[in-house]
Amino acid sequence: MNVLGIESSCDETAAAVVTDGRVVRSSIIWSQIDQHAPFGGVVPEIASRSHLNAIVPVVNDALGQAGMTLDDIDGLAVTIGPGLIGALLVGVQFAKGLALGLGLPIVGVNHIEAHFMAAFLTDSLPKFPFVALAVSGGHSSIFRVDDFGRFTLLGRTLDDAAGEAFDKAAAMLGLPYPGGVAIDKVAKNGNPASVAFPRSMIKEPGYNMSFSGLKSAMRRHVEGRVLSDQEINDAAAAFREAVVDVLVAKTMSAAVDCNVSDIVIAGGVAANSRLREVLGQRTAEKGLILHALPLELCSDNAAMIAGLGHQYLFGACSDFDCPRGLDMDPFTRLVATGG
Ligand code: KG4
Ligand code: ZN
Repeated sequence: MNVLGIESSCDETAAAVVTDGRVVRSSIIWSQIDQHAPFGGVVPEIASRSHLNAIVPVVNDALGQAGMTLDDIDGLAVTIGPGLIGALLVGVQFAKGLALGLGLPIVGVNHIEAHFMAAFLTDSLPKFPFVALAVSGGHSSIFRVDDFGRFTLLGRTLDDAAGEAFDKAAAMLGLPYPGGVAIDKVAKNGNPASVAFPRSMIKEPGYNMSFSGLKSAMRRHVEGRVLSDQEINDAAAAFREAVVDVLVAKTMSAAVDCNVSDIVIAGGVAANSRLREVLGQRTAEKGLILHALPLELCSDNAAMIAGLGHQYLFGACSDFDCPRGLDMDPFTRLVATGG
């Protein structure tokens, strides 16, 4: 079964074809970063218009890369939320039109669930139940995942997402958007102990997190000063260390408390080299298995949408209640399941 996945929740227009929920036949990601970079963040109206321009060529490229035509497609999956509503609508309405025209089944997929279930597109399959850390520009959440379609939110950020904090801190340091990538790069030449940034909520019970205090601390650190290149590297390294400490502490305690053997990290921030390094060390010490997704599956992509869509349309959770068919509506069903 070939599922065509479409993703347009934020600043990437993406389409992919996945066979039997496991084999990625193509994955095209058209990034809008250049259009948003001058503003230091994603501008929703620009995102929606840009998706409109990109969606037809991106879907055609995904079919072409897979060596397929629309006749080879058995079903469609599209991100239904969470995300920017105008941006989501472009993907949802395009996918609905295609499904209606071709007479194919269609399912709306939760973007966050798709991030961590992208582990099933790799060769290193996580064992249920596992703990998943989904960290990106819009979300930072920890889940216990019991099966396909069955997961529980254990904790989440109470304010900024980790990626959002990276983006804002980078802007304060004069680094380019997307800030997480830029901070990760310059932090390699900085001293993480140079600034004592707070680790909010790290000692509190439970798995909720907070990054807005850290962001304010960065603001206070840079206010009224012109930082040298070395001071920028140092502040970036110290900031990255603070974010990583919180994410690692909360994820590890969730894994231990839930008595799982496997941890999945997914989402754009899961590309962070220090997060992968520290969590790799900590899981090895405890005899746990870390599934840090390959970088191309960390940031937004449509393979994760097609892969999970397969499970809802034809696979493990085809009997589940989720936004399916042409009546699905991103206005009323922003979060399909769990998150
Ligand atoms: O998952 P994603 O591509 O889009 C959303 O769903 O938000 O994540 C984008 C976020 C941005 O905030 C970006 O700064 C962050 O992921 N990011 C990183 C790294 N690469 C991307 N953050 C920290 N370190 C990185 N290497
Ligand atoms: Zn995402």
